[in-house]
Amino acid sequence: MEAGKPSQPAVKLRVLHLEDNEEDHALVSIHLLRGGIDADIHRIDTEEALIEALYEDWDLILSDYNLPGYSGLAALERVRASGQLVPFILVSGEIGEDIAVQAMRNGANDYLLKSNLARLAPAAMLAIEANRTRIEKHKADLALTKSRQQLRELAQHLQASIERERAAIAREVHDDVGGSLTAVKLDLAWIARHAPTPHIAERVNQALETVNHAHEASQRIMHNLRPAILEQGLAPAIHWMTDRFAKRTGIETAFRTSHETYDLPSGVPLVAYRFAQEALTNVSKHAQATKVSVDIAQAGGVLSIEVTDNGKGLSPDDLAKARSFGIRGLHERAETVGGWVDISSNPEGTTLILSVPLSGPENGFIDQLLPMSGEPAAETDPDDPTKWGTI
Ligand SMILES: Nc1ncnc2c1ncn2[C@@H]1O[C@H](COP(=O)(O)OP(=O)(O)O)[C@@H](O)[C@H]1O
Ligand SMILES: [Mg+2]
Repeated sequence: MEAGKPSQPAVKLRVLHLEDNEEDHALVSIHLLRGGIDADIHRIDTEEALIEALYEDWDLILSDYNLPGYSGLAALERVRASGQLVPFILVSGEIGEDIAVQAMRNGANDYLLKSNLARLAPAAMLAIEANRTRIEKHKADLALTKSRQQLRELAQHLQASIERERAAIAREVHDDVGGSLTAVKLDLAWIARHAPTPHIAERVNQALETVNHAHEASQRIMHNLRPAILEQGLAPAIHWMTDRFAKRTGIETAFRTSHETYDLPSGVPLVAYRFAQEALTNVSKHAQATKVSVDIAQAGGVLSIEVTDNGKGLSPDDLAKARSFGIRGLHERAETVGGWVDISSNPEGTTLILSVPLSGPENGFIDQLLPMSGEPAAETDPDDPTKWGTI
C-alpha cells in the first residue's frame, strides 16, 4: 500500500446540521470525517433557516433534539412536510425512549446520543442507503401507477373507438345498403305487378324474396353493430336479448326487472347492454350451464344488472388469461360511467354484477365520444343509426 493514501476513499456528502452549539457541531464534523465521510456541512439553528435550506438538495439532515425555541421533532415534521425524501437523523445530548420512538414513527431514519458519536458515520451511510432504496421504490411505484393509468385510458379510448366505428359502419349499412335494397324492392314489386307473363312474375317474386332476405340480414348486422332496440329502453332491450339467447342456445333463461322503465343518464344504457351481451356470450361459450338469469334493478340510486348461471364456475386463472379481454373490457366500460363490475364464482355457477351509481357526475363518456352527424332521422324509422347517438 502506498504511504499516506487513505485506506478508503472519502464519501462526499452535503449535510445540513440543525445545532445551536458550535462545539457539538465541530464534534459531529470530526466524527463524520473519521468515519470516511467528506461532509460539506452547513449549520443552522432556527426554523426560518431550515425552511430556507429546504429549497436546496441535501444528502443528509442531522438535527439536535433541543434547540432554542425549536425542537428536533418539529424540524422532522417540517422536513417530511416539504416532501423531501432526505434521510433525517436525530442527534441529541439526552433522548428518552419515548421521544426516540416518536421520532422513528414520524419518519426519522435513526437517532443517536452525542455521547456515542462513533456510530454517526455508519448510521449516516445506512440511512442514506435505505433512503436511496426508498426513493427508487417510490419512483417505481409512481411509474407503475402512471403506466396503469395510461393503460386504463388506452383501453377506454379503444372501447370508445370501437363503438364509434360500429356506429359509422351501421350508418353506412343503413344509408347505402338499406337504402338501395329498399329501392330495389320497390322496383321489383312494380315489375311483378306489371309482369307480362305469370312466369316472369314468379321469377320477379323470387328475386323479391332474396332481396327481402338481404334486407333482413342488413338489419341484423346493423343491430349487432349498434343496438337500436335500446331506443325502446333498457329493460325491453335486455328482455329481447334474453329471449333471443334462450332460443339460440336452448339454455333456460329468466329475465326480471324491478322497473318497467329506467331513467338513465346517457351512456349508461349502452354500457349495461354490452355488459349483459358479454356475460350471456360467456355463459354460452364457457359455462356449460343449463340455466341463466338476468336481473335488472334500481335501488338506492344504483342501477344493477346481475347475470347468474349454474355452470362450472371460473377461476382467477381464467380471468388472468392473456388473450381474454371480455371481462377486462367490462371493467373498463363500467368505469366510463362511474360504475364497477363484481364477479363471484364457485363450482355451482358464476355471477357477474354491474353496478352504476346514477347520481355521479361521470356519465355520458361514450355518448360524448359518439357525436352523430347527418340529418335528424325520420320519427318513423327505428333502425336509423343517426338517431342512436342519444342512447
Ligand atoms: N360464465 C362463465 N362460466 C365459466 N367460465 C367463464 C365464464 N365467463 C368467463 N369464463 C372464463 O373466463 C375466461 C375469460 O373470459 P373473457 O374475459 O370473457 O374472455 P373470453 O370469453 O374471450 O375467453 C374465459 O375464457 C372462461 O375460461
Ligand atoms: Mg368473453
